[in-house]
Amino acid sequence: MYQIYPRSLRDTTGNGIGDLNGITERLGYLADTLGVDAVWISPFYRSPMADFGYDVADYTDVDPLFGTLADFDRLLAEAHARGLKVIIDWVPNHTSDRHPWFVESRSSLTNPKRDWYVWRGPKPDGSLPNNWQAVFGGPAWEEDPRTGQFYLHSFLPQQPDLNWRNPEVVTAMHGTLRFWLDRGVDGFRIDVAHYIMKNPDLADNPSAPPPPPEADFKDLAEYDEWHHVNDKGHPDVHAAFRGVRSVLDEYDERFAVGEIHIFDWDEWATYYGDDDELHMPFNFSLIWSEWRADAFRRRIESLEAAIPEHAWPSYVLGNHDEQRLATRYGSAATRPAAVLLLTLRGQPTMYYGDELGMPETPVPTERRQDPWGLRVHGMGRDGCRTPMQWTAEPGHGFCEPGVEPWLPFGVDAGVRNVDRQRHDADSLLNLYRRLLELRRERPSLRHGTIAMLDGLPPDVLGYLRHHDGERTVVLVNFSATEQPVDIDGATALLISTDPQRTTVDERPVVLGPSEAIVVDAT
Ligand code: GLC
Repeated sequence: MYQIYPRSLRDTTGNGIGDLNGITERLGYLADTLGVDAVWISPFYRSPMADFGYDVADYTDVDPLFGTLADFDRLLAEAHARGLKVIIDWVPNHTSDRHPWFVESRSSLTNPKRDWYVWRGPKPDGSLPNNWQAVFGGPAWEEDPRTGQFYLHSFLPQQPDLNWRNPEVVTAMHGTLRFWLDRGVDGFRIDVAHYIMKNPDLADNPSAPPPPPEADFKDLAEYDEWHHVNDKGHPDVHAAFRGVRSVLDEYDERFAVGEIHIFDWDEWATYYGDDDELHMPFNFSLIWSEWRADAFRRRIESLEAAIPEHAWPSYVLGNHDEQRLATRYGSAATRPAAVLLLTLRGQPTMYYGDELGMPETPVPTERRQDPWGLRVHGMGRDGCRTPMQWTAEPGHGFCEPGVEPWLPFGVDAGVRNVDRQRHDADSLLNLYRRLLELRRERPSLRHGTIAMLDGLPPDVLGYLRHHDGERTVVLVNFSATEQPVDIDGATALLISTDPQRTTVDERPVVLGPSEAIVVDAT
C-alpha cells in the first residue's frame, strides 16, 4: 500500500496544491512504474483545513480544493482498471468545528445534537472539567461562550471530539462508511482509531509513569507528562470497532487498518479482535526504533509473539506525521530499509517520496503550515509533506512552472526525482520496483512464515521466509563496515542493494556496508 498525501502529489489546477485529478494522472506511475497494489489517500473531504483535512466538515463530499465527487469516481474507476485498490482516510474521533453537526450541537444546551459531542460544565471552582491535554498542546477543553460549557478536543480546538457513546452518532458515522463503500472504495485507514472511546466518567489522567527502557517513541512534549489511560482506548472501543467491521462485512472484500499508537503489544493486538474488529492496526514500532539490528529484531519478535493466529501483521517506516526515514535513519539506510519493509511478514505501507529517498525538507519559519508545529515548538510535520519530486524542471512535475507550491520543494528536487531514477537501473526507485516484483513472484515473501536467523554478527539481521518448499533468506547489514556471514547450502542471489553484487556463491558471504541481500535458498 502506498500512502498519498493529496496536497503534495500533483497539482493540476495551478494553485500549488495537489488534487484528485493529479492523483489520477499519476496512477500509471504507481501501478506500472513502481508496481504497488493499493493506494491510501489522506483526507480530501470538505474541510476548513485547520489540520489539512483531518478536520472534516462533510464526510460525504470532496473539498473543492481537491476536486469533485465526479473526479473521485473517475480516480476510483481508473485505479480499479489498473488493478489498484483504493483506501481512503476516515476520521471518526472528531469533526471540524464547522461541521453542521457541531454547529447545531453548540447552538444550545437543549439542541438535539448537543450530546453528539462531549460537553461538560466547569467544576464548581470554575476550573476545567478534568486534566486532559490535547495532543496538539494545551488543555483538551475549549470553553464555548454561548452556553458556558466546555467541549472536548483531543487535537485542535477546531477538531471537537464526537461522542461515540451516543447511538445516533454511531448510526451517522456508519452511514458515512456506507456512502463510500457504495461508491466502491476498497476500505479505510482509520484516523486515531483508539481515541474514539474515553472513560465515561471523564476521570483525570494520572501523571506519567517513567518510560519503559526501550522507549524511543515520538516525543510528544507536555502531552507525555500524563498517563493517557482515561482519555482514549477505553475497552468499549472494541464494541465500536465490531460495529464498524459489521458495516464493512456487508460488502465483499473491504478492509480497515487503524492508526493505533499503542506500544504495549498485547493491548495493541486486541484491535484485531477475534477477526471481527480491524483487519489490522498499523504497526509503527519500527519508525522510532534506532537503526540497529538488535533493536529491529526485538520489535519484529515482539510483534510476531503478540499477533493473534488469524491476524496479518503490518509494517510502516514513514508517513505524513513523521520525519522522513532518509533523515531519521540516515541516507545509507534507505536501501536496506526498502528491503526490510518489503520482505518482512505482513503488509507494508510506503509513504510517497520514500521510494526516491526524499529526506526531510527544511521549511523556513515563514512558510511553516502545520498547526501542531505552530502551537508546539519542534512538532512541525511540514518537512515530510513537501511536494513529490517528479522531474528536474521548474515545478518539478508537481505544478506548472512559476506556481508557488504550498510547501517548498526539497532542495535536492533537481537531482532526486522520478524522471532521473526511472532511467537509472541502480536507483532506489528501481530497487523498490524490483522488490515489489519479487514479492509478487515469490509466495514465500507474500505469505510465508518468518523465522529469525541466529549466529549472525551483531550488526546483521537475518530471517528466513518459507512457503510450500520455497525458501527466501534476507540478510541486512545495519553497519557501515563489511560483515562476513555464513549461509548454509546452495543459494542464488535474487536482489542486492549493492548494484555491483552478482552472486552469493562465496563463503562466507561478505556483506558490504549497509548492504541487504535477498537470496533464494530453496
Ligand atoms: C492522526 C493523523 C494526523 C492528524 C491527527 C488528528 O494522527 O495522522 O495527521 O493530525 O490524527 O486527526
